Amino acid sequence: MNPETLLEVRDLQVEFRTRDGVAKAVDGVSYSVAAGETLAVLGESGSGKSVTAQAVMGILDVPPGRITGGEILFRGQDLLTLKEEERRKIRGAGMAMIFQDALSSLNPVLTVGDQLGEMFIVHRGMSRKDARAKAVELMDRVRIPAAKERVGQYPHQFSGGMRQRIMIAMALALEPDLIIADEPTTALDVTVQAQVMDLLAELRRELGMGLVLITHDLGVVADVADRIAVMYAGRIVETAPVHDIYKAPAHPYTRGLLDSIPRLDQKGQELYAIRGLPPNLMAVPPGCAFHPRCPMAQDVCTTDEPEVFPVNRDRGSACFFWRECLNG
Ligand SMILES: Nc1ncnc2c1ncn2[C@@H]1O[C@H](COP(=O)(O)OP(=O)(O)O)[C@@H](O)[C@H]1O
Ligand SMILES: [Mg+2]
Repeated sequence: MNPETLLEVRDLQVEFRTRDGVAKAVDGVSYSVAAGETLAVLGESGSGKSVTAQAVMGILDVPPGRITGGEILFRGQDLLTLKEEERRKIRGAGMAMIFQDALSSLNPVLTVGDQLGEMFIVHRGMSRKDARAKAVELMDRVRIPAAKERVGQYPHQFSGGMRQRIMIAMALALEPDLIIADEPTTALDVTVQAQVMDLLAELRRELGMGLVLITHDLGVVADVADRIAVMYAGRIVETAPVHDIYKAPAHPYTRGLLDSIPRLDQKGQELYAIRGLPPNLMAVPPGCAFHPRCPMAQDVCTTDEPEVFPVNRDRGSACFFWRECLNG
């Protein structure tokens, strides 16, 4: 393993047992993130992005969820073999997560200063006064104006964008090596989205962290990510450096996502949409799970499941026709 590799997920399998059957939410996902690198995990809603992240963070709902296979290596150590107490130590100080919805992740009856300060009191044994100073420092760091005056305010007194900055501050508090941001800007207005995304990218650079950026929006990752992993029905179907993907996707699903991005130079034209819907995970189609929606599908796609073919040294595609796709 590359010594710089922070996180390596290997062949992860997660199931949900429900009354209606077993859903394979994550079906053999592998990815890795190096120090200082941003990996964007992309895919439509329901493709298993969040469940993968929850398994990595150790916050999966068990039951109904269950990890049935694979390894999650953090700095070379398999987290799945650790006791809960050891995992708790890694959460926060080793890796931290930012969620989509700050309002439901923050405590409404505690001031933001108390919530930020709590991290330092619990994990670093700081006094209340020192913790408060740290909270102000963090609020400055995520560019919340007038931090000193606002540290005593409650979450509802902040705008959506500012609340998301507080979530980022919480994640940064213990200076983790890795941050997982799960749709961190989805709930925000478009202009605020860009500001929060820029802040996240800037902080990542400043602090040299690894970042896993989960999103369903390929439009937001071009400027931020180094590499992209595209998920479909619990699997990674394409992984590549970000610029390669924009130049020429090697999987028809990625192509569909790219063609669905609104473009300023094509105003007025009807927006492309991938036909059909993602499959029910309790009844994933045989062969390639994407074949019922795929404009390039052939007979073999309906019967054989494609492995991830190496397109080149740092690129893979789970499509029998990746060459055709690249050239198409
Ligand atoms: N708490 C749960 N109970 C049952 N099934 C779940 C639960 N959470 C997730 N799933 C299943 O896992 C799939 C993937 O979910 P998720 O990872 O949240 O998708 P997304 O890519 O949108 O983040 C869902 O479509 C659902 O089938
Ligand atoms: Mg999700």
